[in-house]
Amino acid sequence: MHLISQLCFLLCAAALGNAVVLRPRDPVKYQLKTPPLDTPWTDKVGRSPWPQYPRPQLRRDVWNSLNGIWTYQAAAGAGDVEKSPPLLPYAEEVLIPSCIEGGISGLQKWGVTHMWFGTYFEIPQEWNSNERILLNFEAVDYEATVFVNNVRLGRNTGGYFRFTFDITDQVKRGQLNSLKVFVFDPTDDQSIPQGKQTKRLSHIFYTPCSGIWQTVWLESVPKNHITSVDISGGMDGQLNITVHSNTRQPTQVKVEIHGLESEYATQRWGFESDQLAKISVPGVKLWSPDSPKLYNITVKMGDDLVQTYTGFRTIKSEVVNGVRRPILNGKFLFQFGPLDQGYWPDGIHLPPTHEAMVWDLELIKGLGMNMVRKHIKIEPDLFYEACDRLGLLVIQDMVSMRVHTNARPSDAEQAEFERQLEIMVNEHKSYPSIVTWVIYNEGWGQRTDYFPEFKIVDRIRVLDPSRLIDAVTGWEDHGTGDFLDNHHYADPQCGTPYYSRLSSPYDQSRIGFQGEFGGLGHRPEDKHLWPVEGAVRTINETYEIHANTDSYNWRAHVLLDLLKQQIERYACSGAVYTQTTDVEGEVNGLVTYDRRFVRVDTQQWRTDIQALYSAAAGRA
Ligand SMILES: *[C@@H]1O[C@H](CO)[C@@H](O)[C@H](O)[C@H]1NC(C)=O
Ligand SMILES: *[C@@H]1O[C@H](CO)[C@@H](O)[C@H](O)[C@H]1NC(C)=O
Ligand SMILES: *[C@@H]1O[C@H](CO)[C@@H](O)[C@H](O)[C@H]1NC(C)=O
Repeated sequence: MHLISQLCFLLCAAALGNAVVLRPRDPVKYQLKTPPLDTPWTDKVGRSPWPQYPRPQLRRDVWNSLNGIWTYQAAAGAGDVEKSPPLLPYAEEVLIPSCIEGGISGLQKWGVTHMWFGTYFEIPQEWNSNERILLNFEAVDYEATVFVNNVRLGRNTGGYFRFTFDITDQVKRGQLNSLKVFVFDPTDDQSIPQGKQTKRLSHIFYTPCSGIWQTVWLESVPKNHITSVDISGGMDGQLNITVHSNTRQPTQVKVEIHGLESEYATQRWGFESDQLAKISVPGVKLWSPDSPKLYNITVKMGDDLVQTYTGFRTIKSEVVNGVRRPILNGKFLFQFGPLDQGYWPDGIHLPPTHEAMVWDLELIKGLGMNMVRKHIKIEPDLFYEACDRLGLLVIQDMVSMRVHTNARPSDAEQAEFERQLEIMVNEHKSYPSIVTWVIYNEGWGQRTDYFPEFKIVDRIRVLDPSRLIDAVTGWEDHGTGDFLDNHHYADPQCGTPYYSRLSSPYDQSRIGFQGEFGGLGHRPEDKHLWPVEGAVRTINETYEIHANTDSYNWRAHVLLDLLKQQIERYACSGAVYTQTTDVEGEVNGLVTYDRRFVRVDTQQWRTDIQALYSAAAGRA
């Protein structure tokens, strides 16, 4: 593909059969732009990034990545998309996927709201010409309008979700096809789900991400094909499975579950697509952080064959010895893990490589933590697959709307937030590792003229009855959802009868939880700092700063011991330590932003974290 895009400059006019005048200029060549701070993986990105199959829960053999060198140029404005798309190549080469603000993109540009991306692609000759061709985007931030051979296919809104076009009728086999994407990103200009992204940097809000920041790919599918598989396995071996098809007509499907115990090995079932099937699977081992057992599953519908997987586990809320608890597989399991922002100095929203992404998760797991709170960001699907495989519970936040303005979201913006929240739940509800959905964080983008979280909680219970809901983590709690979730720095106040401004005392009807605490800071050597003036200036806003890591680790021990006492005495059922890594001006990570300096005393943290689980076991 990459050779094609380079040669295309010479050939494509002819190949496309258009009376196109060749552009006189070559695009500016791609070069990794030196980011303000790099990671051990920055120079491993290469020119074919993220080669992994991007959709772990619906795998097919026939696919082709379009990741690589494309071209980019800023657009004049919103009106550009209504005209015919400009000719390729665009002005500068760009590496896809990437955020244009990150060094990996080769652009490292700020403040562009309207932009064009383009490339050429071919359909592999060996692909069955009777099949349909799908073009998949794993995520484009924020709004994408897509053209194949200058035919407009449609527009997608929302910076964190997959979208797909059937391009069979637009592509020409055996020829080069053009792909052009117009991207609009109104970060900060409207209330949209944007999480920590901002153009007005502050201590806790960071560099924005714009553009095609996850994998783009093609696949070949039979005319009637599977579009998604919703799957949920319980501790009793019950499996709820809905195989969705593009026709939405009930069609016979065959399902095989592999790797079952001894005499069962592989079991087969037949039922109809597009409706819920409930099957009972014998001899299953349960999924848990200590034993993250997964089962591969094959689903066949007519000529279509896909691979997926599941784990069997049940999460619910129950009273144990007089205290309401989160229950995993029938037992109270204390949940402990970090606030995980998922930011990278070289890729911003996109980890430089898959290995880099998993490195963060292995650091967490290696400290004996059993959970990660994915903070107001949604990751590539391979992140959740890694959590399933490693055994890390995931608390998944909805991406919050902008907060640095007093204007609350309008009714239309609120409706769009709720639409995207439903997509988040539907796209991710088959990952066994995800145990909780969070709707609002600290009142950010939360309307309080009425309390929309009541209606949203009811809606999520319909979409996904198999998980817990944390309606509000921190502050604007009005009494709905499964948790009473306090934020307090640096000391935890978890399930305690005492409380501080903006929080409330423990309420026995819900699970007592510490959604954030800690945030202990330590200014690292300059070589590990994000050397951007606006960020460095804010370092002193860190709740507590330690002059050395000895002091940092001693205080961490004190805080973890305090948390342990709250587990012993009160109703503390889980806690989130801020945070996995430093991010820009925040110097409070287990590891620095460049992932090169680990602050934590691993042995001591492991011991202190084990003590939390032991204290919780003493209450069960
Ligand atoms: C399957 O669906 C039923 C509702 O039809 C629900 O009660 C049950 O908890 C679900 N089981 C799993 C494992 O999700
Ligand atoms: C399940 O499938 C994945 C992906 O193809 C493969 O890597 C893994 O080894 C399989 N697991 C088992 C237990 O067969
Ligand atoms: C942060 O505080 C320390 C101690 O008061 C001071 O020496 C330093 O100059 C401050 N840094 C900034 C950037 O304000």
